[in-house]
Amino acid sequence: MDQITVDPLDRMVSDYTLVTNGYSGNAPANPYPMFEEQRARCPVMHGDLLKQHSIPSMADYMMTGRPTITLLRYKDIHAVLMDPENWQSYIVGDGFGAAVDNMLLTAMDGEEHDHIRALLQRPFIRSEIRKLIDTLIKPVLMQEFIEELRPRGKADLLRDLALPFPIRAMYQYFGFPHDKDLLQNLASWAIQVVAAPQTDPAVAAITIPQSMVAGQAMYDTVLPIVQAYRQRGDMRADILGHMMQVNDDGRTFSDEQIAAFIRMLLLAAGETTTRSIANMMVQLLENPDVLEEVRADRTLVPKAVIETMRRDPTAGAVARVAAKDMEIGGNAVAKGTAVLLSIASANRDPEVYEDPDRLWLKRPMRPLLSFGFGPHMCIGMHMALAEMEVALDAMLDLPNLRFDPAFPHPQIRGLNMRGPDAVPVLWDV
Ligand code: HEM
Repeated sequence: MDQITVDPLDRMVSDYTLVTNGYSGNAPANPYPMFEEQRARCPVMHGDLLKQHSIPSMADYMMTGRPTITLLRYKDIHAVLMDPENWQSYIVGDGFGAAVDNMLLTAMDGEEHDHIRALLQRPFIRSEIRKLIDTLIKPVLMQEFIEELRPRGKADLLRDLALPFPIRAMYQYFGFPHDKDLLQNLASWAIQVVAAPQTDPAVAAITIPQSMVAGQAMYDTVLPIVQAYRQRGDMRADILGHMMQVNDDGRTFSDEQIAAFIRMLLLAAGETTTRSIANMMVQLLENPDVLEEVRADRTLVPKAVIETMRRDPTAGAVARVAAKDMEIGGNAVAKGTAVLLSIASANRDPEVYEDPDRLWLKRPMRPLLSFGFGPHMCIGMHMALAEMEVALDAMLDLPNLRFDPAFPHPQIRGLNMRGPDAVPVLWDV
């Protein structure tokens, strides 16, 4: 009998769409009018906006019934993120921490968090990442994606670029061997771990055990890579090279510790950038005057990246829990209550952003919340920004880039992990 083989890229697209479905629940694809109404009426809302739409919420991934409030204003969310002593992060590990032996930076608090973060930080700082633009990010993008796509005159920017490119660039920076199957297996397992929390208990009964298997498979795959790297003894300027040499109070990390750190980073390393690239392109193609503005003046590329991430962020929400009785926005919050922070709502708060629905490259910027803020602010931010800038610059060189009218208009959807299912485009060749 013929074996049916699934193209690994198709498998990644289908895993990606499953995550989008999970985080869309029964929410409207465009949630911004709902946020606007809620923010004006009651910006400190009792209940969990995600759960209300049948979406797994990091405020209570395991559906324990933890009391939760949702914050919708920029200033309240900013205040919580800047006060990690009183608003803690450990609840975020409830959903899939078990699948990765609870090695999740995002779910650590206090000294433990700061210590581990400081040890991992160096290869992610802006100056290190900027060096990669010409040596890694641009060559990978141009040689493996753009040069192959350009003569075709058409593409699904999600499947053909936004999904495989950030993973490919990031994995090279980890120091992994260049092996397509390895890359796609790890990327799929990472998505399966993240997809563990589900609001439907029947679905969770499948996804939770599956996430445990995926988490173990990631570790079992990464450990021999770490061991081989060490045996080779050739330390390079990549993440593995850094982790092998970093000095933690006179000791270096063991291979097992490094494998656990790498697995943790892999969970966050690919899909978030994919979604951000796709959301950026949909917004720019929907606003051809803005697309033209940035095409004509490439110094605006970093602004276009930031402004599209503000206007429609993929990380729509994060969560914290009150370490003691607190007060926020004039409301008492009892110890143990979770707060769901709607970043997507904060990003369109008219108290902070003038004409917030407009895609406006020259708007006066405020500290961006789309990578979080405070001590947990995304460690991979500079890598993601560099990948997005390089990708946008290259796509602007595709003449007359436009939506392909043969396909339905892409719709960005979800209250978290927002993204479109596809971004079909045409350009002139
Ligand atoms: C555009 C792409 C990305 C977006 C939108 C994004 C978003 C976020 C957000 C919102 C947080 C804060 C979570 C919280 O405060 O609870 C975060 C943290 C984190 N991100 Fe990213 N991320 C992106 C790319 C990456 C990449 C490429 C990596 C990998 C290297 C990464 C690794 C992490 C890690 C390890 C944390 C936890 C940091 C800590 O707790 O100290 N992210 N990210």
